[in-house]
Amino acid sequence: MEQIFIPKTVGTVKESGTVTWQTPSNIALVKYWGKRNPQLPENTSVSFTLSNCHTKTTLSYNKKQQSNDNFDFDVVFEGKINEAFKPKIETFFKRIEAYVPFLKEYTFVIESQNSFPHSSGIASSASGMSAIAMCLMSMEKEMNPTLTEEEFYHKASFLARLGSGSACRSVKGEIVVWGAHPEINGSSDLYGVEFKDAVAPIFQNYQDTILLVDKGEKQVSSTVGHDLMHGHPFSQQRFAQAQENISKIKDIFAKGAIDDFIALVESEALTLHAMMMTSHPYFILMKPNTLEVINKVWDYRKETGSKLCFTLDAGANVHLLYPKSEKETVQLFIKQDLAVFCKNGEYIHDQVGMGANKLT
Ligand code: DP6
Repeated sequence: MEQIFIPKTVGTVKESGTVTWQTPSNIALVKYWGKRNPQLPENTSVSFTLSNCHTKTTLSYNKKQQSNDNFDFDVVFEGKINEAFKPKIETFFKRIEAYVPFLKEYTFVIESQNSFPHSSGIASSASGMSAIAMCLMSMEKEMNPTLTEEEFYHKASFLARLGSGSACRSVKGEIVVWGAHPEINGSSDLYGVEFKDAVAPIFQNYQDTILLVDKGEKQVSSTVGHDLMHGHPFSQQRFAQAQENISKIKDIFAKGAIDDFIALVESEALTLHAMMMTSHPYFILMKPNTLEVINKVWDYRKETGSKLCFTLDAGANVHLLYPKSEKETVQLFIKQDLAVFCKNGEYIHDQVGMGANKLT
């Protein structure tokens, strides 16, 4: 199946050029946690594509005078040469080489910047890897102009996945499903697809405010975290539960069943953390302020009837999800009651977005 992404014709591309893409982060509602080689998910996941949290990447390419067997590239992050990101990108290039046969024919400069503060604890791999994938696809499109829009985006997501699993959900909006599921048409383990089924108005333009509870380096890398699902006593039940939750959330989106949405999304977040607490070795990724926020959200919902809910990534930061109609009231609540739990009072307002954007 992967074979469809190996180019059949090798056209010629310019000697040199630049291309720029801006791609967003995403927030999973049903979580991807557990993978097998090569970067294939153990269960289906679904996410909201974000908008304000994004990476902008310019790829400059120059054809090598003399070919060699190396990937030649420099990484410039936020204006400075960055050596630390190179190994991850080298691994990414190795994984995608068969599908991007021109990789070793060029020297590249990859210049990136994030819209969100560096080391904010916001996963930048989703936006970062998807941005590089989009740039490479623009090069391929020049060589092979017959690529259809669908082929272009499927392959971009396929490549992004080989950089970081969740990155495959960052090329399209507004809701993206990754992982084969019998009830999602066109779904695949190889790439993310737009969720095309019915979505009730309440779930459109959904808001996400990210509370930066802990801004340090991730305590556990996602690679280590995914690995802990191998031989985990509850992993099989967890993967089965995620598949069921995809069926449920499909129904929830169609019906606008917001209370069921809240219950499912919060349970998914806590299950992800429960898996980390019950693995060997075990980890607690929440901080005291994560729990403070969760309890405040529950109190607020009880007192006001609000539909505000939370989700978590594999870290201490909290994503607060709420309908657009509650934007003003919830943002006031965040400012007055939740900002105190954030490092330096910092949080980021975001909302559902449309996916990758090519910039001229
Ligand atoms: C908790 O995509 O960062 O955010 O494939 O190893 O790069 P790799 O992992 P990554 O895992 C993200 C896991 C998560 C849940 C999710 O986004 O679905």
